[in-house]
Amino acid sequence: MDSSMKVICMLMLLFASVVQASGCYDSIISFGDSLADTGNLLHLLRSNGHFVSSAAAFPYGETFFHRPTGRYSDGRLIIDFIAQSMGFPFVPPYIGVKNANKSNFIGGVNFALAGCPAMDPSSLAAMGIEDPFGSDASLGTQLNWFKEMLQTFCNTPSECKKYLQSSLVFLGEIGGNDYNGAFWQGIPIEEIKPLVPKVIATIASAINEVIEFGAETLVVPGNLPIGCSPSYLTYFMSSNESYYDSKTGCLNWLNEFTEYHNKLLQETLNRLRELHPHVTIIYADYKAAMELYNSPSKFGFNSTISACCGVGGPYNYNSNVGCKVPESSVCEHPSSYVSWDGIHLTEAAYKWIAHGLLKGTYMTPRISDACILKAPTISHCKETMKA
Ligand SMILES: *[C@@H]1O[C@H](CO)[C@@H](O)[C@H](O)[C@H]1NC(C)=O
Ligand SMILES: *[C@@H]1O[C@H](CO)[C@@H](O)[C@H](O)[C@H]1NC(C)=O
Ligand SMILES: *[C@@H]1O[C@H](CO)[C@@H](O)[C@H](O)[C@H]1NC(C)=O
Repeated sequence: MDSSMKVICMLMLLFASVVQASGCYDSIISFGDSLADTGNLLHLLRSNGHFVSSAAAFPYGETFFHRPTGRYSDGRLIIDFIAQSMGFPFVPPYIGVKNANKSNFIGGVNFALAGCPAMDPSSLAAMGIEDPFGSDASLGTQLNWFKEMLQTFCNTPSECKKYLQSSLVFLGEIGGNDYNGAFWQGIPIEEIKPLVPKVIATIASAINEVIEFGAETLVVPGNLPIGCSPSYLTYFMSSNESYYDSKTGCLNWLNEFTEYHNKLLQETLNRLRELHPHVTIIYADYKAAMELYNSPSKFGFNSTISACCGVGGPYNYNSNVGCKVPESSVCEHPSSYVSWDGIHLTEAAYKWIAHGLLKGTYMTPRISDACILKAPTISHCKETMKA
């Protein structure tokens, strides 16, 4: 390679490394559960005439949107922070916009549904596991919405493919509700562990399907450390101190379960990467949250394992009430709490997790590197630089 070419390549790589990742993608598409639902459940319940979503009422949304949007937090979620940091609008909920102007989907669309397990409720029922929130939906339901959306949004399969090729697709977090259902029902962990490969197979098949439609960049998050969740800490309260991490107060055996899911998920992602060499599959490690539990003061938190909004017990959590005023009390400073309602996190916690994902080491590969690899001239340059 001649030296002038090398200089040009070096300049290009330097330039690419400072360009915002947003330049690579035209839209964000998201699947998941309440950790990413920006309003689907709310709109679904409204259209069904039911109204049981706690996220439909104050104090949900109080910090950022100043009204309930259907997000299970006091403000923005991880997906919102990522969208904002990349210069995108908030990803609109499919159920909320599908009957409106379809140009709403240009910048992206969110299929994430609060309460939704990965697996079919009937498959879960066959294993004796109840649908924890009665969502009567699954990741399969979200994929059906996705296909329905593509049918109206693009005119030809190649047009759909183009749209998906330039989209950043978030597949998850999903699977948390499959486990919530099982644990909260009192099923012993030895009987829940065999569920993990099934949940992950469900996620893998969704990944394959989205890739078949044309997606080329996916972000697949693992689960949050459930052993630090006030809901789990309340259900599995124990007088035996050896179950707890003395520094964080989290339940070790439950965090180990999360690690087990996350490890299996990463192994599966490695196989999928081999199967689809032209696709970039990013693993997003929600262990980023552990930083908040390990060093709360560094992030401005003074309460990690007690819910901001709730009632009763050492963790301010009661599953019969959740976060619902006037039965629950709401903390004065949500930004000093990691947990919002005992199950979901505060906007402040989500902000730091998003920060850890985007700026830290919790995405593999990093989203900015995935972007550089996407530009053909630059990846060619990388090859020649190596030579
Ligand atoms: C849909 O939105 C686009 C862009 O905002 C606008 O140009 C178009 O007129 C809208 N179409 C309808 C039917 O409202
Ligand atoms: C506490 O748990 C540990 C480890 O599981 C066990 O060895 C020990 O016997 C338990 N202690 C009590 C008092 O139950
Ligand atoms: C936590 O921080 C808030 C705001 O800085 C403060 O008002 C509150 O008293 C603190 N609580 C504890 C237990 O330190």
